Parts: sequence; C-alpha cells; structure tokens
Amino acid sequence: MYKVLYRKYRPRFFADVVGQPQVTVTLQNELMRGRIAHAYLFTGSRGTGKTTCAKILARAVNCLHPKDGDPCGECEVCKGLEEGSILDVVEIDAASNNGVDNIRGLIEESNFTPTTAKYRVYIIDEVHMLSASAFNALLKTLEEPPAHVIFILATTEVHKLLPTILSRCQRFDFHRIDPQAMAGRVMQVAELEGAQCDEDAALLIARIADGALRDALSLLDQCLGRDKHVTEAVVNATAGVAAQGYLTALAQAVADGDAAAALETLDGLHRESKDMTRLCEEMAEYFRSLMLFKTMRDPGKLLTLPPTQLDALEHQAYGMSLSTILHGLDTLEETLHKMRYANQRTQLEMAFVRLCSPELDTSTAALLRRIEKLEMGAPPHPVRLEEEPSPQPAVQEPEPSLPESAPVFEQAPAPSPPPQKAPPKKPSPKSPAPPVDIEALSASAQRFRQWPEILQVIRGSTKSVAMAFDESSAYVNGDYLLIQAPEFAFELLKKPEQRKRMREAVFQVTGQAYKLGPYRTPTAKEEEADPLDELLQRAESAGIPTEVQE
Ligand SMILES: Nc1ncnc2c1ncn2[C@@H]1O[C@H](COP(=O)(O)OP(=O)(O)OP(=O)(O)O)[C@@H](O)[C@H]1O
Ligand SMILES: [Mg+2]
Ligand SMILES: [Zn+2]
Repeated sequence: MYKVLYRKYRPRFFADVVGQPQVTVTLQNELMRGRIAHAYLFTGSRGTGKTTCAKILARAVNCLHPKDGDPCGECEVCKGLEEGSILDVVEIDAASNNGVDNIRGLIEESNFTPTTAKYRVYIIDEVHMLSASAFNALLKTLEEPPAHVIFILATTEVHKLLPTILSRCQRFDFHRIDPQAMAGRVMQVAELEGAQCDEDAALLIARIADGALRDALSLLDQCLGRDKHVTEAVVNATAGVAAQGYLTALAQAVADGDAAAALETLDGLHRESKDMTRLCEEMAEYFRSLMLFKTMRDPGKLLTLPPTQLDALEHQAYGMSLSTILHGLDTLEETLHKMRYANQRTQLEMAFVRLCSPELDTSTAALLRRIEKLEMGAPPHPVRLEEEPSPQPAVQEPEPSLPESAPVFEQAPAPSPPPQKAPPKKPSPKSPAPPVDIEALSASAQRFRQWPEILQVIRGSTKSVAMAFDESSAYVNGDYLLIQAPEFAFELLKKPEQRKRMREAVFQVTGQAYKLGPYRTPTAKEEEADPLDELLQRAESAGIPTEVQE
C-alpha cells in the first residue's frame, strides 16, 4: 500500500528532525541528564515537527538503551512502541475527543501503572480544542500527575490555552523551518525515493510550503507523481503556481501603468484555472521581494529563490520606485482580505486597475506614489539629470575638480589642472569653477545613509561597478556626495556612461542631483601622496610633456 511521503519519512530520532535545535538539542541534553518533566507543551505552526518530536520523546523516555538522549530504535520497547504492540503511549486527538468524558476516562486510566514501558505517555494533540470542562479536569491531573505518567500537549494555537495550563508545562516552541534546511530535506527524501529533485525546485517547494515541512513533502509527493525528475517547471505545474513569468509581467504592467496588459494576463491565468487567491498571495510575495531589493544591500539572504529569479527581480526593482512597490503590497494585502467575501477574480482585477492607475485610487499609498511621480517629473533642485553634460566634462562646473593624486571621476585632460589651465577648445561663458576643497568638504560631511540603496540600484544595471563599490561608503555635504572606495572603483567611474548610471542611481533613490566626488581625509591623502606625482606635476606646469608615446 502506498504511504504518503511525509508519513513514510517521519523522523524516528531527534537527530533526524530538521531545523528545530532549540527543541531537539535541549530535550536530548535533559534526557541525558535524566531530567524528565511530567508535562511538556509543544507549540508552533503546523507541520513543523510537534507530533513527530512528541513520538520520539515518548520512546526516548522509555527506551532501554537510549543513545545521546535519542531512543535506540532497536530495543524491545522501542520496537514495541513503533509497531504498536506496546500500548503505553497513548495519542489523543483533542479535536475529535474534546469532551470532559474523554479526559476523565484518560485520567482514570492513567492511575494504572504502565504494562511494559517505564512511563505511560499521553500525547494530546490540538489540545486547544478541549472544552472548558475538559480543560479543568485535565488541570488537576497536570498539577500532580502520577509518577509514571508524562503528558505531552501539542497545539498550533497556544494563545487559546489558559495560563494555568501553561504554567504547569515545560514549553517548547517549534519554528517555521528555514527554507534552505527544508530544501535539503526535500532533496534527501527525493533521493531516498530513487528520484531526483533539482535545488531550484526544492527551494521553490520550500517557498510554497512556507515553513511547514509536511506541506513541502506533500508537494514533493505530488511532483514525483508527475515526474521522477523534479524541476522548477514540474513544481510550478504541480502546485498550480503562476510561473514567475506571469508575476513579472503583472508587476511590469503596474510599473508601466498598463491596466489592459494586467487584465489580459489575469484573464490568461484565470483560463488556466489558476487559483486567484493563491495568485494574489504570490503577487504580494513578489512585491515584497521587490521591496527588499529596493531597500536592502543583500536581499538574497532573506529570499530563497533560484539565482535566475533573483536576477529578474533585481532588474525589475531597478526600474520601479519604492512607493509603487509599497502601493502594490498595500493593495494586494487588502485585496486578499476582501477576496474572502467577494468575487475573487473581480477583486484581483480591481486591484490591478487601481495599481495601474494610481490616480483612481485614494489610498495613502497611491497618493504617496503620485506625489513621488510629480517630484520625479520636476526635481525641486536646479540641476536636472537630463541636462547633465555627458562625456565632455569641461563645461560641467559643479563636479569637483580634484586635488593632486586624488582619484578622478572626470576624464580630465591633465591629472591636476592648475587653475590657470582652463580646458582647451571649450570656451565657457563662465570662468572655470574654482577648485573644490575636497578635504574641507569631507571633513564636515555627514554619513550618507541611502548609499546601500544606491548600490542596490546600481547592481541592477552594472554588476561590475556594484562589486567594485562593495566595501564603499559615502558622505554628504550640501549637494556633494563624497564616496570612499578603493582606487579601482573610481577607475570604473571614469567611463562617462558608468558615471551617468551612478548619477541616475543617486537621483532615483534620493530625488536629488548630487555632485560626485571622492571622500578624502587629510591623513588619507598624506599616505597616498606619491613623490613621483609631484614631480610630474612640476614638469607639467613647466610645459614639459609627461605622456609617454608608444
Ligand atoms: N522538523 C521536521 N523535521 C523533519 N521532518 C518534519 C519536520 N516537521 C515536519 N516534518 C515532516 O512532516 C510530517 C508532519 O510533521 P508533524 O506531524 O510532526 O507536524 P506537526 O507540527 O505535529 O503539525 P500539526 O500542527 O499539523 O499537527 C512528519 O511526518 C515529517 O515527515
Ligand atoms: Mg501534529
Ligand atoms: Zn530503545
């Protein structure tokens, strides 16, 4: 007979339980020291190992030869308990046996000593379902249980338990299982089944299961029914999940304000009988990912997605404003709520129409988005990005002309133009800008907190630049943005198009057009001052050519 995977692979030892060391290691240590409580409470979300650990604990306390706090799995008691021939471990589902009579029966029975095992263990699952009188009956026994009795209560809803129950139990909280750990277990189970599950696919399964290993194994089971090699596509098809492509398309429609495109995509998904609530959840999750990309330096840590999807997200986040993303999140969360009472498809369509046309939406999130759009359209600052002169830096007076040996942003004709050496062939109406005292600016500059966000934006377009600036920091003084980074990072910025990207990224994040320059402290400069540079400079001011022609 076929046994579903999650039952077949229920861990038999604490050592095999995934991702709950706060429970398993603690219990093992206590058991090794012979410290056994008479009432345990296992709480936490569904499918995370509560019942599993209760069963292991019930065997561990009774095992004749326990190893490191784990049951041996081989002695007659372990075997008898696993096979069900020893009846001293009793499992009660409080959901279906919630009356006071059930509990009274149990309590009477508990007065008898166990037949074979050392302890009679009662596992009461879903204990929050007990009726009030059943609770009261249980309470008395919990207070003074017979020496040979252990209670293990399990529940997903600990807030429904009376404080009097809580205070009598040793409590263990089960956490949602970390996606990486869960993916590992999924791949392992697939292998034990003689099948294969790709890492991408396992991570996707973990993400859908949202912390519950039982759900993950169920989904794996279904996938294996379809194909012995589980790929991302198989998972997508099996779970009826909208492939990320749809999510990207829908988010793009929002970014472009293209309601028609959004409605068409929704229609296609509806025809393929996608569940609209699930789609809305996924879309909300997708916007959350975009938000993380927009605000964090390394969102990959929080997002368990295959690299290809991370790249796609990053790219999309680059082109969207944070307020648009927040508007998306807000609206979708609200829609999820409304979907419970109204036509799901219509609700989702309305959500997208509103997201594509924020002017139709009166929510605060929509208003913020509109304000931001206005601000972006007409920057409050005199310098507009579009007006920035491209490769020819000569007329661009605001960019700091840099002191000797400082890394240069501009492709300056000479490394250190003395004031009288005006840029050739470009008669400017204004006199050349006075050199900016970078050190003075740096000395009174403030740390620039949005820098990681800017790097994040850059990462969306040019990885090489972003990597070069990995360890950088930035400071702000007036309308100067001063960057502290290794020399080679500045080298990259010498390219006009990279410089432009950097400025655009700064503008995108701050809404301001800053002038860029290097951050310099006096000491830093001294260290780097090269006597050779000085010589070259003197030669130059004397009119001696210093460039070596090859
Ligand atoms: N931490 C875990 N490590 C390994 N497998 C696990 C873990 N959690 C759950 N599983 C798998 O999921 C199945 C169900 O787990 P279990 O019954 O212990 O969950 P639960 O926390 O009691 O859930 P519920 O609250 O729904 O009763 C197990 O048989 C096992 O295959
Ligand atoms: Mg359970
Ligand atoms: Zn044993």
